[in-house]
Amino acid sequence: MTHDTWPAHVIRRTFMDFFIARGHTEVPSAPLVPKGDPTLLFTSAGMVQFKDLYLHPKNLAYTRATSVQKCLRAGDLESVGKTLRHHTFFEMLGNFSFGDYFKREAIEWAWEFVIQKLHLPPEKLSVSVFEDDDEAYGIWNREIGIPASKIVRLGRKDNFWGPGGKTGICGPCSEIYYDSGPERGCGRPECAPGCDCDRYIEFWNLVFPQFFLDEKGVYQPLEKPGIDTGLGLERLAMILQGVEDNFHTDLFHPIVEALLDMMPEGFRITPEERMGINMVADHARALTFTISEGIYPSNEGRGYLLRRLLRRALTRFYSYGITEPFLYRLVDVVVDTMKIDYPELEGRRHDTATIVRGEEESFFRTLED
Ligand code: GLY
Repeated sequence: MTHDTWPAHVIRRTFMDFFIARGHTEVPSAPLVPKGDPTLLFTSAGMVQFKDLYLHPKNLAYTRATSVQKCLRAGDLESVGKTLRHHTFFEMLGNFSFGDYFKREAIEWAWEFVIQKLHLPPEKLSVSVFEDDDEAYGIWNREIGIPASKIVRLGRKDNFWGPGGKTGICGPCSEIYYDSGPERGCGRPECAPGCDCDRYIEFWNLVFPQFFLDEKGVYQPLEKPGIDTGLGLERLAMILQGVEDNFHTDLFHPIVEALLDMMPEGFRITPEERMGINMVADHARALTFTISEGIYPSNEGRGYLLRRLLRRALTRFYSYGITEPFLYRLVDVVVDTMKIDYPELEGRRHDTATIVRGEEESFFRTLED
């Protein structure tokens, strides 16, 4: 493993410094519960805290921003633990323009960052553009020099982003993929970026917000288009650390190791069981971050998602022979792994663990009954 070369905290800092040097203001992560935004249960992307700046790009304190955003997405819940790349809680690195620069700079800087800062081999990279976005295609092909064989045109499902809720900012996008090798692919002749298998890892999404989708379903053009990018930290860490999947990165490794240590003696870890362990590691992060922010398990709304995460984790481990509370012990591991960039977790460590333990005790009692 090569956690030492590119630990996650160095990736976060390198990304933001790169964009600060290009005139961006560093903005702290917004909370997981978006303030004053009834369209979303949780912050699901870096752009959520900037929505209004796209709509009214006049007299802003800054027109370029960069952030590392804590995100939570419940839509992929069933995929967590079935694939190696889906998460509920994750971090998104982003650079944003509010009526300032547009496609050319976004594409040029993204390429400069991956080649000159991260030193990713260009032959492993390919890109996608929205099917009729000839402008983005031309920038990648003629200005950056990406051969046509490495640019795919994809439809709405893959290359039109947003909005995050039912209404909001959205637009065509262009993605950067890393080829993790044919041995990880589905082997089908048509396998290419956009395929559902694990070969082509989409790690950076460059969105070109041009519209506001209103309540009537009309795409209203924005007064000035902007930029909204989302680079998945866990996926990038996997690529840079040269490990087999996100769960082997330094973001997850200590949590997974703690879970492996909890397994009953003689427990055989098949790939299926390992997926269950990954799922529990994912849920432990989501629970630690949300509860630290003051969201508690309950029977409705946000709290209901937390209760579901907790129960999914406990039910899976119950089937592995773990019949005593264990998740609360992972809170410490998550806090220790993440506190370097989220020091606020530290002060809530004890309370978070106590809440998790209380939920565990009552659910284990139900399972026993
Ligand atoms: N808003 C960019 C993304 O979520 O990919």
